[in-house]
Amino acid sequence: MKFIIDRFDGKKNYQQTYTVEKKDIEALTLLGTLLFIKQHLDLTLNFTASCRMAICGACGVRVNGHSYLGCDTKMTELFEEYKDADTFQISPLANYTVLSDLVVDWEPAIENLRKIKPGLVAKDKFSEKEGCVQNQEEYDRIVKQWDCILCGVCASECNKLTADRSDYMEPFVFTQAWRVANDSRTKDPMIHVKPAVTNGLWNCVHCQECANRCPKHISAADDIAGLRALALRKGLNSGVGPAHAKSFYTDLVEDSGRLNEIRLALRTEGMSTALRAGTAITLMRAGKMNPLEVFGGHEIEGHKDLVKMIEAAHAANKE
Ligand code: FES
Repeated sequence: MKFIIDRFDGKKNYQQTYTVEKKDIEALTLLGTLLFIKQHLDLTLNFTASCRMAICGACGVRVNGHSYLGCDTKMTELFEEYKDADTFQISPLANYTVLSDLVVDWEPAIENLRKIKPGLVAKDKFSEKEGCVQNQEEYDRIVKQWDCILCGVCASECNKLTADRSDYMEPFVFTQAWRVANDSRTKDPMIHVKPAVTNGLWNCVHCQECANRCPKHISAADDIAGLRALALRKGLNSGVGPAHAKSFYTDLVEDSGRLNEIRLALRTEGMSTALRAGTAITLMRAGKMNPLEVFGGHEIEGHKDLVKMIEAAHAANKE
């Protein structure tokens, strides 16, 4: 079998191909295969790993362009996923700066994590004697997000970070913000929600890749949606993102139930910006909107049921 590994020596990028017998690695994990190559073929190959049991989050790499936790991925799973391919390309996580071979720089991501204050700032009312007691329901609410091991797989898969890293943070940072903001012991969720908003909360592009690839099956996309709802409930509702969300709601519930892309642009960007950008004309030309329905169309089938479902979701959320 061939493993083509993307390497970086601090100055130049290159690829190196390693040939191994399938029988030597088929019972191993992906991390085990990297260790095999390092031990038997090339001591200079650099990658990170520590616990080897899906706890420390250090061993994320990409195989054929997709991100995996190395110690939690069996080679047999990769053989199945890639239909018994005999060549694999292994690369460092995407959307991070590469330091050496498969080793990436975590410092900017950790800096982002610090922004949302991931440590609990507890309510004053907890006495020293009782500590911060949670009941089972309160604990269950956030237990999934506690599973996040900061492996960076979600960030590596994130299409928004690939397009532009300057106004967004790693999806796991939003998951950590959701966890601590929804902890029953927290003094004020806004300690965590506000920095999430000012650091790109509304810039998620809903591609769901973070949720699809998380080795712990956490959906950062859902956590981002939860943080947005919390921000809106707490009155943080200015800007394009909240206007866009409100416009969706108006189309679905108060209007015909049909998403009207032109009105969406007008309500989100404002009349003057949308017209200046030619958004309406571009959408019509692309066949995204029927010009006859710019100011409303006939109600979609089942609209009343849709409204009932949304109202029921609202009611459940308030309970
Ligand atoms: S080595 Fe710790 S998570 Fe893989």
